[in-house]
Amino acid sequence: MSALEQGRIRTSDNGLANTTAEKLRWLAPAAAAMAYPFLLDAFHLAVSPASGQISAARLVLAALCLFAATATPLLGLVCAWRLTKAAPSSFELRARRLAYVSIAAPPLFVLTGVGLGLLHISFSDELFWIASWLAACLYLLLGSEQEPAATSTAIAPSIARWRVVHGVAAAVILLYVAFHLTNHLLGLLGPEVHAGVMKLGRTVYRSPVIEPIFISLMLLQVAIGVRLAWRGSALPADAYRVFQIGSGVYLAAFIVTHLNSALVSARAVHHIDTNWAWASGAPTGLIHDAWSIRLVPHYVLGVFFVLAHLASGLRGVLLAHGVTITLANRIWAAGLVAGGMIAIAIMSGLCGVRI
Ligand code: HEM
Repeated sequence: MSALEQGRIRTSDNGLANTTAEKLRWLAPAAAAMAYPFLLDAFHLAVSPASGQISAARLVLAALCLFAATATPLLGLVCAWRLTKAAPSSFELRARRLAYVSIAAPPLFVLTGVGLGLLHISFSDELFWIASWLAACLYLLLGSEQEPAATSTAIAPSIARWRVVHGVAAAVILLYVAFHLTNHLLGLLGPEVHAGVMKLGRTVYRSPVIEPIFISLMLLQVAIGVRLAWRGSALPADAYRVFQIGSGVYLAAFIVTHLNSALVSARAVHHIDTNWAWASGAPTGLIHDAWSIRLVPHYVLGVFFVLAHLASGLRGVLLAHGVTITLANRIWAAGLVAGGMIAIAIMSGLCGVRI
């Protein structure tokens, strides 16, 4: 472990139990996740005035609601980091893991909506959402303060092997992601350009041989990622590591949700062509549809976190090859800035911006 990491690791709090107020504080990421759909509802109300005219005040309110919804994972990241210390109790470890799960609120809420539809369960997705998070909070509060969590700091050989497999698979997946995101960026030039490039790409990634192998690889990557995140979330970590784990948790939920939406719900069940119109929620669009607005934070953060997660992996590789911490951190930060800009550009195209 690096000196930097060691400097950041906090020891347990002198064996004192958390007060009730402190315990409730660690429910904040779950509370933010519960508020997430209502921020989207508030956004929708703000952009849908009865008169049809959107005032400046409504625009500001809408922007604030969408910003707050998109920033929900940030609270989970901060709490996961604040809760990361050596020798956590069972309660503290559960709180830390719940904070990590809350980072994935945007894709998990999409999965909830699509999943209930696929199962023909006509139950409010918001009620289901709240009930699930309340159950998670109950599970957290049942964690013991006295009992230390069962964690081991030794790196098992199998974990080291899975890390290598995860890195190699990422290099293959990167080829698709680079094509896929470039394809979506070209949406800024118009749906026709997007369709032309996608048609070309489909001859490769949708071929009967490549597609099953590729989808299996994506799912394997998710399974290994979850395994690594589960273990990593129990260990002391610095802010960079917490970000790497948190972005990975988001991605795991994003990939499962995205594959379920595109391959299962759209293609297999509803026989919809997963083209630009499908992705951009045409004809209503992502912004003005009460259901589809949830896709905006989901997609923006999906693009951002996939690039940021790759930047985190690259930082680890650079450090292992003797690159200075300052340079590795700068490259990491540049990756995050580029990821944010690409995410905003793609979303602008999906929402109708053309260049
Ligand atoms: C703005 C963000 C995104 C949008 C709008 C989007 C949209 C789409 C669309 C329309 C398809 C269907 C492709 C086709 O029919 O040929 C698709 C498939 C897929 N996307 Fe995305 N995507 C986004 C981000 C991502 C990211 C970040 C990843 C990877 C982490 C990803 C992974 C995949 C995979 C694996 C498929 C299935 C490919 C197949 O058909 O076999 N997507 N996506």
